[in-house]
Amino acid sequence: MTEQATSVAAVIVLAAGAGTRMKSTKSKLLHEIAGRSLLSHAVDAAEHLHPRRMVVVVGHEREQVTAHLTEIAPGALTAVQERQLGTGDAVRCGLAVLESTEGEVVVTMGDVPLLEGETLEALVAQHRATGDGVTILTSELSDPTGYGRIVRDAGGDQVAAIVEQRDCTAEQAAIREINAGIYVFDGGVLRDGLASLTTDNDQSELYLTDVVRYARSAGRGVHTLVLADRWQTEGVNDRVQLATLGRELNRRIVERWMRAGVTVVDPATTWIQASVDLAPDVTLLPNTSLEGATSVASGATIGPDTTLVDVEVGEGATVIRTHGSLSVIGAGASVGPFSFLRPGTELGVKGKIGAFVETKNAVIGDGAKVPHLTYCGDAEIGPGANIGAGTIFANYDGVVKSKTRVGKASFVGSNSVLVAPVQISDGAYVAAGSAVTEDVDPGQLGIARSRQRNIPGWVETRRGDTATWQAAREAIDNEGATEQ
Ligand code: UD1
Ligand code: CA
Repeated sequence: MTEQATSVAAVIVLAAGAGTRMKSTKSKLLHEIAGRSLLSHAVDAAEHLHPRRMVVVVGHEREQVTAHLTEIAPGALTAVQERQLGTGDAVRCGLAVLESTEGEVVVTMGDVPLLEGETLEALVAQHRATGDGVTILTSELSDPTGYGRIVRDAGGDQVAAIVEQRDCTAEQAAIREINAGIYVFDGGVLRDGLASLTTDNDQSELYLTDVVRYARSAGRGVHTLVLADRWQTEGVNDRVQLATLGRELNRRIVERWMRAGVTVVDPATTWIQASVDLAPDVTLLPNTSLEGATSVASGATIGPDTTLVDVEVGEGATVIRTHGSLSVIGAGASVGPFSFLRPGTELGVKGKIGAFVETKNAVIGDGAKVPHLTYCGDAEIGPGANIGAGTIFANYDGVVKSKTRVGKASFVGSNSVLVAPVQISDGAYVAAGSAVTEDVDPGQLGIARSRQRNIPGWVETRRGDTATWQAAREAIDNEGATEQ
């Protein structure tokens, strides 16, 4: 299909409401599920239609909303609705920023995050097939309370009107088909219908829904597309709904990855944001959260109890009980348990970052190992190097941070401090327990600690009446006995 065939004239996203029930200093539309704002989900769905214009109608907290929009949809226009006089007034404001009202105008809502682009496409396709003036997305609910009801004409085919709950007769209130608040309008019908609106209703608002009556009086058709998947039309009004829709969206994302070949041992405790990319044959263990631009290559196993934010994991790597951000983990590498990878960590192919290791700005070469109890900051470690247990890369002197280099196949003994800036060359050793302040050249062993001295007779002289001396005496006597 060409873009021409799919593209609509405009999408107007309603986003001027107050969101009071969120009880937040942040606009409701900026709250996130699956790592993206509610507004960004709504805008993404709308973008499926390739609209020639996207207009977001803003009102409450509009500085926040507008600033956010410039990040997520720089091409979108904004229309300001100064006072919330109703959905009809909101769409009027949206139309006012368009140069023309020709063509199809789709109206959606900024706080309905699970609506899919494909649903909007189906709505537009039906609208085109029927040539109707208005096509309404609806669902059938066992409890329709609070929603506008779809009232049919005598023939039962066309929609005669949408009647808000508070304006309903008892008979209308019993109707289970509800207005989801998402529509395709013929632009001309919308423009003229909006011009005809009055505030003759229980809330004294301008109701967009009354455009339906206008369309019928103008002789245009109005039909509905009934959506079985009610989640797609649910809005977020408070944080309980935010969590409910967030969990449902996550369930859908996790299910999509499972169908694409990812093993998810416990879908209920696995969280995958919308932006994450996974290869087939990835395994995710319980309590794993993958966020941001994280990607995981085939055969890798992540978790349990792991959070990765913007981390690239290579083929066949394992990452156990780890928190990582802005890092790269090479193919076949192993990380964890209990590792903390801070931004700038790059672990090479088959490298290892082990238990209780914290890394930051650390480029660790292929096959290099930092297995236990280490702080590794501002480091460059060559391929095949081994960093002993408890090594500290002392990168900060209280004023500036400096870099430490450990060369290829070098060996740093346990419990050493490498005081940056310092370089351990290729093929060098550092003795355990060293505080290294000078470079160590290829082939050298650097020892930076005082030499051990044993003082004979010390325990007898200084601790003569202790169990220690008693033990020493027994040991000495026994040694004497064996020697004989
Ligand atoms: C609206 C529909 C109702 C439908 C329901 C679906 C009308 C009159 N009623 O009711 O039939 O079942 O949505 O959720 O349209 N908004 C503005 N400016 C305004 C008023 C609203 O931008 O002046 C925005 C809100 O931010 C929100 C959307 O429009 O995103 C819907 O407004 P809301 O007041 O929640 O409409 P409902 O009363 O729920
Ligand atoms: Ca609502």
